Amino acid sequence: MQPNLLRASIAIILENQAPAGSYVACPNFPIYQYCWFRDGAYTAYAMNLVGEHASARRFHTWCAATILRHAEQALRAIEKARHHLPLGADYLHTRYTLEGEEGRSEGWANFQLDGFGTWLWAVGEHLHKSGDTLPGDWQQAGELAAAYLGALWSYPCYDCWEERPGMIHPHTLAAIYGGLMAYSHWGGNPAFAQLAQGIRDFLLNRAVHAGYFVKYLGAEDVDASLLGLAVPYGVVAAEDPLMQATVRRIEQRLRVPRGGVHRYATDTYYGGGEWILLAGWLGWYYAEVGEDARALELLTWMEAQADSAGQLPEQVPANLIAPSFYRPWVERWGPIATPLLWSHAKYLILYQALKRYRGTGDSTHGER
Ligand code: BGC
Repeated sequence: MQPNLLRASIAIILENQAPAGSYVACPNFPIYQYCWFRDGAYTAYAMNLVGEHASARRFHTWCAATILRHAEQALRAIEKARHHLPLGADYLHTRYTLEGEEGRSEGWANFQLDGFGTWLWAVGEHLHKSGDTLPGDWQQAGELAAAYLGALWSYPCYDCWEERPGMIHPHTLAAIYGGLMAYSHWGGNPAFAQLAQGIRDFLLNRAVHAGYFVKYLGAEDVDASLLGLAVPYGVVAAEDPLMQATVRRIEQRLRVPRGGVHRYATDTYYGGGEWILLAGWLGWYYAEVGEDARALELLTWMEAQADSAGQLPEQVPANLIAPSFYRPWVERWGPIATPLLWSHAKYLILYQALKRYRGTGDSTHGER
């Protein structure tokens, strides 16, 4: 068990925020030396929850500058989408260097839409929690990101695991929905709320099979990222029967009993282990629906996965889905990414979601 994981998580995130404001996904893993909009937006949200608003503010300023730096590509993408043309190289990348430039890894799963939705959502949370007034550059970048998502949402893209580029992913659409809804409020443009409603209708009509949401359109099984449909993006309420059935299926198919959570049933990346951030996400869902005991079990499991320096990995190689794939990945890219900032962010989010528990006398977590 790891003492002080709350403080360690905050310190690790702050240490790994670049002077430009970006958060590196993982400082020790060669191909994660970039800042992802998806990972970073959750990290900023976690920092807001623990009162580190200055860190979140610097991240959002980096995001706004990065989007505006690539505005021409975004505008060309919007124009192409209007004419239903293939995008070619005109789109915003899912990850940028810590200085906000495109990476050198040409073609590496660059086209992903969810991170921009997550960012728009996280900005709304930041403004609400910090009390900051909206800076002009955030507004400008937000309007462009919202227009970009509004024009491109129906294009197939890589999912949040950077896989299956030819598919439409409900989690991605949910992030877009959540982002457009948030932007319609903080950006003061109600047209985007209307657009978001159309995406919600699409999800309800096309992304459900046998009473639960599916991994991608046409699939019959779940993916743990579907948790996002309720928490935080709010396509449906956490208590909605559709969501409850989805979570039951995630428990049956992807949860290790009393342990962590796999991404999806056929995952082979590093053998398909238990993901820390998904344990945090499932716990966050349970905290939302008031199932604190289940949430606390997941928090406790997360704490047990930290190393002696308080670092959380991306996944743990226990209960592998495909054990023979583990070694080849280690030989290719080295040990599992540690510390992963997104894992620490999800720990902080779950910790804060359960804080009311601590109010009732539980003091055995985070700050021991
Ligand atoms: C994951 C992405 C994540 C990235 C950086 C990838 O392996 O699939 O979800 O954004 O790592 O953490």
